[in-house]
Amino acid sequence: MQIQSQFSLKRYNTFGIDAKARAFIAVNSVDELRQVLQDHNHEKKFILGGGSNMLLTQDIDALVIHVNLKGKRIVQEDDDFVWVECQAGENWHAFVLWTLEQNFGGLENMSLIPGNVGTTPVQNIGAYGSEIKDTMTQCEAMKIADGILHIFTNADCHFGYRESIFKQEAKDQYIITSVTFKLTKRNHTIKTGYGDIQAELAKNEISQPTIQDVSRAVIAIRQSKLPDPKELGNSGSFFKNPVISKADFEQVQQKFPEVKFFPVSENQVKVPAGWLIEQAGFKGMRVGDAGVHKNQALVLVNYGNAKGAEILALSQNIQNTVREKFGISIEAEVNVI
Ligand code: EPU
Repeated sequence: MQIQSQFSLKRYNTFGIDAKARAFIAVNSVDELRQVLQDHNHEKKFILGGGSNMLLTQDIDALVIHVNLKGKRIVQEDDDFVWVECQAGENWHAFVLWTLEQNFGGLENMSLIPGNVGTTPVQNIGAYGSEIKDTMTQCEAMKIADGILHIFTNADCHFGYRESIFKQEAKDQYIITSVTFKLTKRNHTIKTGYGDIQAELAKNEISQPTIQDVSRAVIAIRQSKLPDPKELGNSGSFFKNPVISKADFEQVQQKFPEVKFFPVSENQVKVPAGWLIEQAGFKGMRVGDAGVHKNQALVLVNYGNAKGAEILALSQNIQNTVREKFGISIEAEVNVI
């Protein structure tokens, strides 16, 4: 374990922002992690996973701990299901592909989401009709204060739409070290209900899709809409889709009859922020090296050397304009640091 000072985090965040850490260390095991926490217990610490859900607007005056725990193993199985524990530092998409090679079902709709496994429960990642909460049985996390490992069951995590206990009561108190998923070995549940999946399968003349077919369809859709962080810095959806009351929605609908929406409950409706942002005129906009993606207005991008503060300013401009035009507040999904 080696501590590096004044370390550039450009390669460690998918936005590709060149912010510096006062000190940086990568840990490769749970014991190393505990040791670092003990040795630096009075120092300010910042935990870094895959760096795929944050916007760095300043240098980090803390010891940045990069969780690099690797490995996966089957912890239990029966005829129908398998329980797989994956270490926090594994790349999410590589893990999904591995499960599909074993013909384990459950994660295929979440193919190609950037980031590492350890951060997936934090915001209950989801796409194309699946969320982590549908398959995660538990995760293990180390308490920063004392280095003790705790198990959080699915129920303990208080999952909601892009929400969990790790963004609320337990924020900044734990480091997730591994996540366990219960996956199907046979009789897989094929979820093709979400918008474009069926169209993509039909295009390839697939009428009885396998979990691998669903994964390939999701990959194709994502590649056509969402920028690859390796080519264009971004953090996926920058905003959450706002959930508003039906009464408020009806007012919007009166003025904008073409507004898109998904019913959430009896009295609530989710409005796609991408639609609102596009209608507000921001899709494809570029200000210096900060921009709004041309194919999906929910995604902000770094064309090269944007500062975090420039992307933040653009995001605030978007929020204000959407509020003025539609009377709807949209909230950032990424953590602004
Ligand atoms: N739309 C527009 N303009 C745009 C983008 C979208 O009009 O620029 C409209 C679309 O036409 C569609 C609706 O908005 O009618 C929804 O669009 P889409 O299906 O692309 O999904 P989304 O709601 O914009 C969410 C997630 C994505 C996830 C997709 C697919 C959030 C904040 N985002 O996007 O998640 O991949 O659904 O399930 O919930 C991420 O979290 O990083 C992410 C990419």
